[in-house]
Amino acid sequence: MPQQKATPASHVLDRVLVLEMVRVTEAAAIAASKLIGRGDEKAADAAAVEAMRRAFDGLYIDGTVVIGEGERDEAPMLYIGEKVGGAPDKGPKIDIALDPLEGTTITAKAGPNALAVLAAAEEGCLLNAPDVYMDKLAVGPGYPEGVIDLDRSVRENVEAVAAAKGVAADEIIVCVLDRPRHAELIAELREIGCGIQLIPDGDVAGVIATTDPDTTIDMYMGSGGAPEGVLAAAALRCVGGQFNGRLLFRNEDERARARKWGIEDLNRVYKLEDLAKGDCIFAATGVTDGSLLEGVKRLKGGRMTTESVVMRASSGTVRWVRGEHRLD
Ligand code: FBP
Repeated sequence: MPQQKATPASHVLDRVLVLEMVRVTEAAAIAASKLIGRGDEKAADAAAVEAMRRAFDGLYIDGTVVIGEGERDEAPMLYIGEKVGGAPDKGPKIDIALDPLEGTTITAKAGPNALAVLAAAEEGCLLNAPDVYMDKLAVGPGYPEGVIDLDRSVRENVEAVAAAKGVAADEIIVCVLDRPRHAELIAELREIGCGIQLIPDGDVAGVIATTDPDTTIDMYMGSGGAPEGVLAAAALRCVGGQFNGRLLFRNEDERARARKWGIEDLNRVYKLEDLAKGDCIFAATGVTDGSLLEGVKRLKGGRMTTESVVMRASSGTVRWVRGEHRLD
């Protein structure tokens, strides 16, 4: 029987790890699902965090959280800098960006698109983004490089994407977080005649929706969390697409926080490779039903189903994983 070629030792993101990451997001999603529609955002988040933290222990990695639940003094678990994984000092050194429950409010209200999500990459490959807002602009795969540019106006970007798609500007559908701060952006898009899909929360799913023709969403625009920007960028590195992000600071404290993470140019426009470079893995499990994934379903007889996606940048492989779990 021909021997299977061993994965080279330098291949830090071992192929086995790709599927292992799904166990971690599944655990968080299942834990959070108990609290869907229960009106308690904090409890849902805490359940997901604790389950994700525990699931990491089963992985043979020497992991470090680079994007997590906050800084050490504000988050008891999965804080930035926390070591995770079952092989400290022995396993491959992996940086991890995570959001055990992306969409805490969605979960509390049983709305669409809540996810448990993480990205993993070799040490030093994920931007240590501070917890500030980020202005985001994204488009799915198949467009010429540079079709979107945060330094151009909303109209210029929509027209460039429309021209590349071969449609009129008013046929472009843009996904935007439903927030008062986006009133001007929404007015500009209305002026052009674009279709706008307003989402209540969950811009990781919103950005990824641009890569899926079934959603009909062409572009993502507007500001949301910078950590979520890194997670979405990791996904786009795997499936294709373009992303521009610029950190937004509301006060001096936020600027100081960015400098503390080594960010010198506060006006920099980050592209995909600036946010997640080298090889990386992106994994997500649906908590509630959404455009990307089905949510956790609790069935009769103590069984549950989950739907997850896991992708890897170096191979471009996207795997959809349907899990059946026993409640006990
Ligand atoms: P949480 O899960 O932390 O609540 O984040 C949900 C979310 O909608 C993100 O997807 C988005 O990036 C961010 O909140 C937007 O922040 P804000 O609610 O302050 O506009």
